[in-house]
Amino acid sequence: MFITFEGIDGCGKSTQLGLIADLIEAKGFKVHRLREPGGTSLSEDIRNILLSNKSKINDLAELLLFEAARANLVEEIIRPAIERNEFVLCDRFFDSTTAYQGFGRQLSFDIIQELNLIATNGLKPDLTFYLKISLETANIRSHNRIHDRIEKSGREFFERVLSGFDFIAENDSKRFIIIDAEHSIIETNKKIVDKIPILNV
Ligand code: TYD
Repeated sequence: MFITFEGIDGCGKSTQLGLIADLIEAKGFKVHRLREPGGTSLSEDIRNILLSNKSKINDLAELLLFEAARANLVEEIIRPAIERNEFVLCDRFFDSTTAYQGFGRQLSFDIIQELNLIATNGLKPDLTFYLKISLETANIRSHNRIHDRIEKSGREFFERVLSGFDFIAENDSKRFIIIDAEHSIIETNKKIVDKIPILNV
């Protein structure tokens, strides 16, 4: 099973992914904990380039680098793991590209859908948790952190990213589960656990 976690920076995806991975492992299943961009040696190198404040990257190059990192991760790790019937949990996937590069950077929606399809060779998550928080909550949570290149994109950019996630989640309600992630880690975790069949038997 392939499960992804999406949302704006500070929504708590990484924490929730770790907790859910622990619970699935406790049931005796093999779980891969991945993040995008990243997860392979090449994709982690691309991540460093993408997030470095020293990099000057135009919007199209940024989009292509995210897709290159994704293509490598899908073929090296995700697809083989799914074929072995293992669990794959990924912190972000192509929905982040639609939200950040599509809505945030305002690149062509059609080109992004096409590139997402090419990079994944048609692979889609079975389930996507969208951890929804407001920009105010995101700002409070990230107050003491050093911001990477993308996090420095400004309030209007993040408003567009947020509306992008809302749009794609509402338009694919079969795959997406929208989780109110404004409250405590435990409360959010309960809501996610409820929606994963294997954790409710
Ligand atoms: P993330 O791992 O959530 O950052 P952090 O470790 O700081 O919490 O994601 C890295 C950044 O990359 C984040 O700002 C979102 C951005 N991103 C895109 O813009 N497009 C994409 O396709 C992906 C996967 C991430």
